[in-house]
Amino acid sequence: MSSPALEAIAAIPQIELKSAFAADPSRLSKFTLTQGPLRFDWSKTHLTSAMLDGFLKLAEEMDFARWRDAFFAGEPINSSEGRAAEHPAERGQGNAESVSRAKMLHARMRALIDAIEGEALGPIRHILHIGIGGSALGPNLIIDALGDDGGRYDVAIVSNVDGTALERAMARFDPEATLVAVASKTFTTTETMLNAASAINWLVEAGVEDPYGKVIALTASPEKAIEWGVDETRILPFAESVGGRYSLWSSIGFPAALALGWDAFESLLEGAAAMDRHFRLSAPAQNAPLIAAFVDQYYARVLGCQTRALFAYDERLRLLPSYLQQLEMESNGKSVTRDGRPVDGPTAPITWGGVGTDAQHAVFQLLHQGTVLAPVEFVASIEPGHALDPAHHRALLVNCFAQGAALMQGKDNDADPARAYPGNRPSTTILLDDVTPDALGALIAFYEHRTFANAVLMGINPFDQFGVELGKEIAKSIETEGAKGFDPSTMALIELALGAV
Ligand code: F6P
Repeated sequence: MSSPALEAIAAIPQIELKSAFAADPSRLSKFTLTQGPLRFDWSKTHLTSAMLDGFLKLAEEMDFARWRDAFFAGEPINSSEGRAAEHPAERGQGNAESVSRAKMLHARMRALIDAIEGEALGPIRHILHIGIGGSALGPNLIIDALGDDGGRYDVAIVSNVDGTALERAMARFDPEATLVAVASKTFTTTETMLNAASAINWLVEAGVEDPYGKVIALTASPEKAIEWGVDETRILPFAESVGGRYSLWSSIGFPAALALGWDAFESLLEGAAAMDRHFRLSAPAQNAPLIAAFVDQYYARVLGCQTRALFAYDERLRLLPSYLQQLEMESNGKSVTRDGRPVDGPTAPITWGGVGTDAQHAVFQLLHQGTVLAPVEFVASIEPGHALDPAHHRALLVNCFAQGAALMQGKDNDADPARAYPGNRPSTTILLDDVTPDALGALIAFYEHRTFANAVLMGINPFDQFGVELGKEIAKSIETEGAKGFDPSTMALIELALGAV
């Protein structure tokens, strides 16, 4: 740990959580913050005022304010790829030129949506969205969270190259009434291009007269989409400076905007914009994404926790953990600093999690009594997502809050150690007023900025992802040149499952 500020934080004696509130009666108000429809509660973590001061020094040491300004100004802070990171521009925040380009591209998207609704592409009932990683996880999360109203369109998001995924979606769709949205920033991703080709074959085999006429492309590489066969008028471009895992606000969000309606999509953007303004303008000690990053840094870098667990106590947010896995792990799972030096400690922990209360009956045993310390995050909504007996939502929230209290306070049992709970296990709670488009937009933007803040505090670039390239290269070389020359294990597996080596 070569950071003086971090070393000073590590030297601060750790508090015992269960006595923390008695020791400091103002603890709850000190470590909770309300921002729009979101309330953050870090009071059940080990954060103290002394630590907060230490982290504020770390932020200064790592030039946080300058990096945040550079980010919002559209400077090329993604230095390894020589580009800016301009997802806030999609929400109307940041560099003026980028904002007006994003507005123009949104207007184009809206016009195509109006045309589809006016049946310009024939009567459409189904949307087959094909994309992977950031080109699928965001729209999937939003539609799953907000689209349970019976839906104007039936949407399938197909990502896996395993044909089972596509086949299942095609089996429930009428080809004549299906719009195929091919979502790929690069328009070269193997899985997406193979799935898109199979979708075209499906339309052809079903006798659809103009199969490419049913296809739209969502991409930052329009020329590749044209080459592939999509008509220019049905291409919805977005800027190269919008990273894949930050792209749901761009045309990648098209299926959400079509299925949920433009007003809902716009509210999502507005919710995110409010969080952008909060992150950009709030003082560090009142800045939700930054404080959350301080807590992350404490557990990952000071205590060496290798995972962080997130549980959505709301069925509408069941896809949040998998969305955040890409956001956090692809962004900050790095071993070198932005200037290419080895990092001097751990970077991103493994993000994992699930849905409450289900997870209580599966993985919480380890969280309460296991030997691994995993900081836990609970995300819940005050309002329910259903009209059933309010007892359901009450039970859900009671369980959520009980878990946080149990992790913190523990329970002694000298007579029977198997029934003892050590306690002192930290948790954060994020409470939404409701899972509405603006609250969801704010929540996702909060996580984006927290990820960025973590990266700045570690001196790494969160906007590249070279770690995914080697596996892709090897897969390509096996496809084109066969398995010869690989290790005996790889060759044997290929021979066994695929035949020729
Ligand atoms: O392989 C990783 C990745 O590049 C992600 O960062 C990205 O979201 C995904 O692949 C899909 O890429 P594309 O949108 O270019 O198809």
